[in-house]
Amino acid sequence: MRIELKTEIPGPRSRALMEQRRAAVARGPFHGTPIFVAKAHGAVIEDVDGNKLLDFASGIAVTNLGHTPADVVRAVQTQAELFLHTSFNVVPYEGYVALCERLCRVTPGAFAKKAFLANSGAEAVENAIKIARAHTKRQAVVVFDHAFHGRTYLAMSMTSKVGYRQGFAPFCPEVYRTPFPYTYRSPEPDASAWAMRELRELVLHHVGANNVAAVVIELVLGEGGFVDAPAAFVQELAGFCKEHGIVLVVDEIQTGFGRTGALFACEHYGIEPDLVTLAKGLGSGLPISAVVGRAEIMDAPVEGGIGGTFGGNPLACAAALAVLDRFEEGGGAILARIRAVGERIGARLAAWKERFPVVGDVRGIGPMRCIELVRDRETREPDKAAAGALAKYCYQHGLVVLGAGTYGNVIRLAPPLTLEDDELDEGLAVLEAGLVELGFGAQGAERRPGAPIVDGRNT
Ligand SMILES: Cc1ncc(COP(=O)(O)O)c(C=O)c1O
Repeated sequence: MRIELKTEIPGPRSRALMEQRRAAVARGPFHGTPIFVAKAHGAVIEDVDGNKLLDFASGIAVTNLGHTPADVVRAVQTQAELFLHTSFNVVPYEGYVALCERLCRVTPGAFAKKAFLANSGAEAVENAIKIARAHTKRQAVVVFDHAFHGRTYLAMSMTSKVGYRQGFAPFCPEVYRTPFPYTYRSPEPDASAWAMRELRELVLHHVGANNVAAVVIELVLGEGGFVDAPAAFVQELAGFCKEHGIVLVVDEIQTGFGRTGALFACEHYGIEPDLVTLAKGLGSGLPISAVVGRAEIMDAPVEGGIGGTFGGNPLACAAALAVLDRFEEGGGAILARIRAVGERIGARLAAWKERFPVVGDVRGIGPMRCIELVRDRETREPDKAAAGALAKYCYQHGLVVLGAGTYGNVIRLAPPLTLEDDELDEGLAVLEAGLVELGFGAQGAERRPGAPIVDGRNT
């Protein structure tokens, strides 16, 4: 057993730190779990009160190889003793180039590629748009309902959910939104056909295909609730973009580095996007992001047009190279193990759908899976309060989980992909006990009084 609770959660030291946080830190940053970490290793977080919790959030799908993986830590330590920073824009270094070479090699697409490094996911998305606009000399960007692309102004303008945008208008111009093929909530039986028809209508008749620089898509929505796009839609979208000279950008920031059981989600769909954006799992906790894609598109910005003081920091490059080593060693053996984790999660979640009426949908690819909670299976009315209560039950019983979804009614599973079967089972048992103890076990069963709502804003 990994979970060891010595105090109530949050414990006294975490509560005291939360008071200090309230006084010193701006209100804006949100916490899914009100504990403060002291150390973390593998799938376990130890808090400042000495409690050990299982981590099924991975710092928002970042620590895919677990916390503090020895090889990544060693690579960072080695680099730290050599130099910390020169800025790639002032005195370049080999690690940046080596990482770009590796990313060009491992990302989908049998064509000449180049890469560019930045610090955060939002920065990668913003740079992908700069690059696509410079290449196409067009302005419009098409994004999807339920998308999350970050919190900086353009990335936020491309993000769907009102909670991320409230109070920040005006947004960037030339961003157009179209329905995502969200099968569970599609107004038509064929979500792919519906979403594709809407996209064609928008692009061909309202914006003009010759004005569209890029379509940006998450193949599996992350913050939007782990909704996987149907393959038929994705393939048709890729063909449509090609036909109209539109740059197809796949945002693999949350799906990348094994999260779906493949190195990249694109591999499940058999598509080769023009550009991909990467971050999160790339650095295993060190802040780094990348845009990788067709060399002729990547070379469109003028010299000095993209870059930054810290982008592709040497420590983060060293971490990312160690991450790629791990995914490539033994011919990608780690991915077979990750897929087995996905199957184990999938089997357990499928059983919950049978057993708990509140579980309206279970879905996802590989280990990137979730449950969507509803008040009524017929109407599919989202049950945000149930998701909040379940997330709270989980951390109070030693499991860190993440909410998600535009309606705040999704619990996503994002454990370290390297966790052991018994760790996985122990965490899933907490979730299952929560579903039982909160009264979700039978249709019409009395619910316990609602707990404070965690609304799925986790980034
Ligand atoms: C798909 C996707 N794109 C972009 C981002 C933004 O990344 P960051 O928070 O590092 O700016 C996120 C973060 O959750 C994401 O999931």
